[in-house]
Amino acid sequence: MKISVKSGIAEKEPTEVIIISLFEDTKKIPSELNACNKASGGIISNLLESKDFTGKLNETIMIPTYRKIIPKRLMLVGLGKSTELSLDKIRQAAGTAARVIQSKRLKNFSVLLNKHKNISIDDVAYSMVEGVLLALYNFTMYKTLKKEEKIDINNFTLLVQRKDILGKVKSVVKDTQIVAEAVSFTRDIVNMSGSDATPTFLANKAKEIAKGTGIKCRILSKPDMLKLGMGGILNVSRGSAQPPKFIILEYNFKKKTNDTLVIIGKGITFDSGGISLKSGKGMDLMKADMAGAAAVLGTFMAVSHLKPSTHLVGLVPCSENMPSGTALKPGDIIKCLSGKTVEVVNTDAEGRLILADAISYAKRYKPDVVIDLATLTGSCVVALGTFASGMFGNNDKLKDRIKKAGEKCYERVWELPLWDEYYGLIKSSIADIKNIGGRYGGAITAACFLGKFVEGFPWAHLDIAGTFLVENDTPYIRKGATGVGVRLLVQLIQDWKKMSDADKKIKK
Ligand code: BES
Ligand code: MN
Ligand code: ZN
Repeated sequence: MKISVKSGIAEKEPTEVIIISLFEDTKKIPSELNACNKASGGIISNLLESKDFTGKLNETIMIPTYRKIIPKRLMLVGLGKSTELSLDKIRQAAGTAARVIQSKRLKNFSVLLNKHKNISIDDVAYSMVEGVLLALYNFTMYKTLKKEEKIDINNFTLLVQRKDILGKVKSVVKDTQIVAEAVSFTRDIVNMSGSDATPTFLANKAKEIAKGTGIKCRILSKPDMLKLGMGGILNVSRGSAQPPKFIILEYNFKKKTNDTLVIIGKGITFDSGGISLKSGKGMDLMKADMAGAAAVLGTFMAVSHLKPSTHLVGLVPCSENMPSGTALKPGDIIKCLSGKTVEVVNTDAEGRLILADAISYAKRYKPDVVIDLATLTGSCVVALGTFASGMFGNNDKLKDRIKKAGEKCYERVWELPLWDEYYGLIKSSIADIKNIGGRYGGAITAACFLGKFVEGFPWAHLDIAGTFLVENDTPYIRKGATGVGVRLLVQLIQDWKKMSDADKKIKK
């Protein structure tokens, strides 16, 4: 879809639909809409007076203009109360409007970009475009659609009232399009079937992303892992017919003067539980146990175009977790890359085993920060539900930055504790640690397990088990993979400022 930015006025815009957003408490038509209202014979004021449109968040009404004005139709969309406006409400309203237009099979539309109190025009443009692009995503890879069933909107125009900000808005639109495309890529591979999106498939995708961009991409295969002693990922993959892959991506590798951020994503391309087999109910969702991996790949896709100044490393351990005669067994003791031994009490707690190797591998980059994303525990979903990812970490400054980035893009995180007492729950009597705690606090004991492999760098772990998919359509994310992590990491990276030595203090 092409997105244009131009200066213009609503009533003269040649488009199928002109979208105008209004607040719930609109008493009087905003002055900038007076001309349009008048020219259209009072369409807007009539709708408000008759209460056919009240401006509630995500309320829409579309009416033909019968050639009184140039746009063929006028759509009003509600933003809710003016005092409660947020970037996400703009995103939602834009997404809702775009979906209506998509369902009516209209080919183009224009939106009036207005300034709101306390929100910059850049942020309004960013939220609108993001809302539209994310909302229109549809996963059709496995559908045999007939040509006429394909719904494509060709053009979307942002109408700006002030000429002097055209350039700025255009650049915001370009960046937002880059990020939305990366999110769509991530959602696609998370939605794909486990038998298609294998470790080898993800490795090939990583190579494609890196190609021609100056990003370095290296894939470690089984022999490399054996040489290094990556006992975590090697043992998890033992039951599978698919070979494991460890993806390494590096952006800006020559610029060592900038902070080095390492991002790690759990890449279990199918989690059956292994010998500690899961029950059948909901097992199909475990094709998406690589949502963390997909978020890291999507982030690199965005970064390759946005070109931020940080030195960014991506580490993505990829494996299946399957039962078989050669599979890892409950009770086995394995040795991870760090040299630590792990008593594997439950083979379904596999994510932490592959992540342990990745966290140890991160050390060689002398990272300023390490962030991992993983669909790690069902227990995190029990604790926080589906509206926040669980956040853990050893550095307050880093957690603060992640929290702020999460609020801006609305991929929110909520912190859970890593107190010493919880570490006590993963002590093993026969190995250095065991891979599960007791019945309670499962998200925390899983994070503690990861924390045991963190050696002297600021680190944060995001448990995205509750946020990697939505079970029902939301205003701008359709049922299925959300692509969580991409917008959060991109926001964090784009806002990244070098950490001072004082800021790098870690808490034991
Ligand atoms: N991939 C799962 C966690 C998961 C569950 C993600 C639901 C998304 C939705 C993970 O590998 C797992 O199986 N965790 C176990 C850990 C347990 C064995 C300690 C869990 O949460 O039940
Ligand atoms: Mn598992
Ligand atoms: Zn898993």
